[in-house]
Amino acid sequence: MFNVCVIGLGYVGLPILINLSKKFNPVGYDINEQRIQDLKRGIDIFNEFKKEELKRKKITFTSSIKSIKKSNLYIITVPTPISNKKLPDLRHLEDVCNNLSKIIQKNDIVIFESTVYPGLTNNFCIPLIEKNNNLKEGLDFFVGYSPERVNPGDKNHTLKNINKILAYPHNYKKKELIKMYSLLSKKIIFSKNIRETETAKVIENIQRDVNIGLINEFYLVCKKLNLNFNNVIKLASSKWNFIKFKPGLVGGHCLPVDPYYFSYISKKNNFNTKITLAGRTINNLMTTIIEKEIVQKLKKIDPKKNKKILFCGLTYKKDVADLRNSLALQIFKNLKKNNKKMKGYDPVLNNVISRKNNLVISMNEFKKFDIYIVVTNHSTIALNLKKLNKKKIIINILN
Ligand SMILES: NC(=O)c1ccc[n+]([C@@H]2O[C@H](COP(=O)([O-])OP(=O)(O)OC[C@H]3O[C@@H](n4cnc5c(N)ncnc54)[C@H](O)[C@@H]3O)[C@@H](O)[C@H]2O)c1
Repeated sequence: MFNVCVIGLGYVGLPILINLSKKFNPVGYDINEQRIQDLKRGIDIFNEFKKEELKRKKITFTSSIKSIKKSNLYIITVPTPISNKKLPDLRHLEDVCNNLSKIIQKNDIVIFESTVYPGLTNNFCIPLIEKNNNLKEGLDFFVGYSPERVNPGDKNHTLKNINKILAYPHNYKKKELIKMYSLLSKKIIFSKNIRETETAKVIENIQRDVNIGLINEFYLVCKKLNLNFNNVIKLASSKWNFIKFKPGLVGGHCLPVDPYYFSYISKKNNFNTKITLAGRTINNLMTTIIEKEIVQKLKKIDPKKNKKILFCGLTYKKDVADLRNSLALQIFKNLKKNNKKMKGYDPVLNNVISRKNNLVISMNEFKKFDIYIVVTNHSTIALNLKKLNKKKIIINILN
């Protein structure tokens, strides 16, 4: 039986912890004390879990490293962002590994889930864990890698509905580990190779980023050529192997970040990637294009700037309460510079965050605007817009 500890209780770590509590008595550790206090009180600021699920007796939440010492299986789900220079920012992983090096015991297992570049687990994480002790990975303790594919807010591709890769090049408690990971997935795809698994994860996201970049480019060119983009796509989709991506804003913690991890390690190995980063430029350019489109529409509809405008949907993706790298939020902030009275609204966000950002919360207030700009089209926004009277103007970009 494992004494499991999940390190990093964000979008990825918390669902893992909750699912493990069905069979184990897991400990959840996070350096963010506020997050731990909230979780202890049954509050998930990302609105993914209800109080009853967080208050399960079997779960212990802590921000004290001492309290996780008794664990023998550590699952690491800390952020792997990029720096201002768009290079891998490994501070969180470094911090975790340094802490682990002080508490790791013989026969402990550590599984990394954070998205990284090929080779990082072996070349960066393991040496750090081995630093403050006499233990050797592969002999005394054991490391594996199981990338996360969960798509927050996606009701179809939940933890239990998707296949998960587990890379574990050891025999020690292999069967038990696979059994435990089966609680966290539909099916386990087992691999002995950590580097191949790291690569598989990062290229899954790059492929998506590049494909969205390409469809965004088609969308922009169609506009320039005065072509109906939807009609064009309908025609092209009649071919059996045309892949139907949707144009849109790409944000969040994965797609805008992962291509830089891959191109970084590629460059280190004397190859400058040619396509990996191609999606990045065009996908970021979409912000300016959409912003311009909104400004032009507003000029026509509200030339005197006396109408009350509500910007709906600020998070990076439909039905996901995540503001990280949100291009919708960026557009809202830019538009607000010239429309001081414009307000924001995002029903997916927790009320505490909405209040902090001075956003509209109540339905009563929601109804009082003249123009509604929708960029991230959350299901609740679509429903709420239907409740408005017909005189209201709705600018629904990209949807
Ligand atoms: N969010 C997603 O949809 C998604 C999907 C697949 C993979 N991933 C990957 O999973 C990893 C985690 O992403 P996330 O979205 O859950 O991040 P997150 O920011 O939501 O959560 C990370 C948590 O780790 C905590 N943390 C940071 N440093 C720590 C430390 N030293 N010790 C303990 N806790 C620490 C933070 O306080 C935070 O609560 C990243 O590598 C990401 O690329 C994310």
